[in-house]
Amino acid sequence: MQVITTADGLAKALDAERAEGRTVGLVPTMGFLHAGHRSLIERSAAENDVTAVTLFVNPLQFGPTEDLAAYPRDAQGDQRSAAEAGAAYLFAPLVEEMYPGGAPLTTVDVAEISEPLEGRSRPTHFAGVATVVAKLFAIAGRGRAYFGEKDYQQLAVIRRMAADLSFPIEVVGCPTVREADGLALSSRNVYLTPDERAVAPVLHEALQRGRSLIEQGERDPAVVNAAMRAHIETEPRFTLDYAEVADAVDLSAPTRLAGEVRLLVAARLGRARLIDNVQAVVPSASSESSAASGADH
Ligand code: PAF
Repeated sequence: MQVITTADGLAKALDAERAEGRTVGLVPTMGFLHAGHRSLIERSAAENDVTAVTLFVNPLQFGPTEDLAAYPRDAQGDQRSAAEAGAAYLFAPLVEEMYPGGAPLTTVDVAEISEPLEGRSRPTHFAGVATVVAKLFAIAGRGRAYFGEKDYQQLAVIRRMAADLSFPIEVVGCPTVREADGLALSSRNVYLTPDERAVAPVLHEALQRGRSLIEQGERDPAVVNAAMRAHIETEPRFTLDYAEVADAVDLSAPTRLAGEVRLLVAARLGRARLIDNVQAVVPSASSESSAASGADH
């Protein structure tokens, strides 16, 4: 695996790969790689001839009171992990390389999708994410890019940004990787004390409760949201931010549940702010009534 620290170096390396007829997969990360990141790299390595992992803790996506300075880092471990998972290139630029003139004057703001859920607590976060990912897409060029569904709203924002700005990049969403007890893997899980870690799966349990209500026929989002909130509130160590069911594509709040929806939660637990989500598919009214009458198609 070749480590590259300049944008020009990465652009030239990937242009040369494509000139030889090879396909390129990109896996943007902020490092401190865990099994969730490795699953993205492995998928990219399976689906493309060469994979470039990017490792950049992007200051633009942290709010003024957030954990930029404390964000966990392990440059050497990340190099090993990325290489073992199948990366051909590791792009690890300094902040000065990505933002040579300081904070950029041009930023990418994906309206509407960025506003609910995470956007209410972190109003500048998605503009920071969309701006750095747009830069990475511009540097890397044509290919596929892999992101975890764990950050579901981020994935929706990036999909829309790539489509709106005509990047020649297919955005691929990959399933969340979980611990055996359901906790979604996240670099920020390292902030949890052993006691907090023991109760952290309550978040995933709340999502499963919400989903099973939908599976049992509940179509009122307020009822599903209240059930998820109530479950999280059984554990007083959580400070709940949101527990909501949303449209799976634009993340708007539905008035009645239909089609593909996403259940999303965020809560603070000690020093960590944890987020998680699951999918639910609401069968159409006609498929429900034909299933009930045993109709044969
Ligand atoms: O998900 C992350 O690690 C980051 O938000 C990303 C997509 C690498 C942008 O900095």
